[in-house]
Amino acid sequence: MTEIMLDVRGVAAGYGRKRIVHGVDLNVAKGEILLMLGHNGAGKTTLMRALFGLLPPEEGSIRYEGRDITGRGPAGNVADGIAFIPQGHGIFRTLTVRDNLDLGAFTVRDKAVLPARIEAIHAMFPILKQRASQIGGTLSGGQQQMLAIGMALMHAPRLIILDEPSIGLAPNLVDKVMEAIAHVNRSMGTTILMVEQNVKYSLPIASRVAVLKTGRKIYDGPPDPLHDRVELMKLF
Ligand SMILES: Nc1ncnc2c1ncn2[C@@H]1O[C@H](COP(=O)(O)OP(=O)(O)O)[C@@H](O)[C@H]1O
Ligand SMILES: [Mg+2]
Repeated sequence: MTEIMLDVRGVAAGYGRKRIVHGVDLNVAKGEILLMLGHNGAGKTTLMRALFGLLPPEEGSIRYEGRDITGRGPAGNVADGIAFIPQGHGIFRTLTVRDNLDLGAFTVRDKAVLPARIEAIHAMFPILKQRASQIGGTLSGGQQQMLAIGMALMHAPRLIILDEPSIGLAPNLVDKVMEAIAHVNRSMGTTILMVEQNVKYSLPIASRVAVLKTGRKIYDGPPDPLHDRVELMKLF
């Protein structure tokens, strides 16, 4: 039986009186890569911010690993194994790669676990070892995204929420970033909730797809039908 990791029911969110997300239901199963597609302005970031506790949901409930976490803030969520990688990486551009990784472990109480964790991250992304003393902002866009993923892995999350990891990247780098995300999912069993606009590169790694349109979920199902361009166009 599939185990539900994140159970979102009727979540509504917005800014002041401006409602953006209208009663979204969403299940993320343990171990899957759930891809959320949608045009610019559909409310994807707003929904992810609400799920991570950066924006209080105005309605609805969020359960994580069976516990109600509705209204819990980001600090509590990080401590409980949820990572959020915002649109545009969220790395510290003026700090070195290694310092960025160390900051990713800011919330980890037992520092003794960290050397092995860094070693595992270096094994997964050798570039982060080779460029350890390089300033983060001077890495390529793709490498910065790897670093953002590495930072998240420093606190060993069970769920990673990624907001448009491909944004601003050249196509060959998008492919590499998607491969890296699939690799984390496969080798560490980390559940992934990923928002994307780049259908071509994100669809091949998705276990399941949800489509958001003007703040409402209009599709939720297997990725296969969406490979058909006509089916996809109907949704967008
Ligand atoms: N901080 C904010 N204050 C007011 N409106 C916002 C804010 N952030 C986003 N919006 C509006 O919410 C809508 C959805 O934005 P967003 O969630 O960023 O969409 P997406 O991530 O799908 O592109 C847009 O119309 C945007 O202008
Ligand atoms: Mg967005």
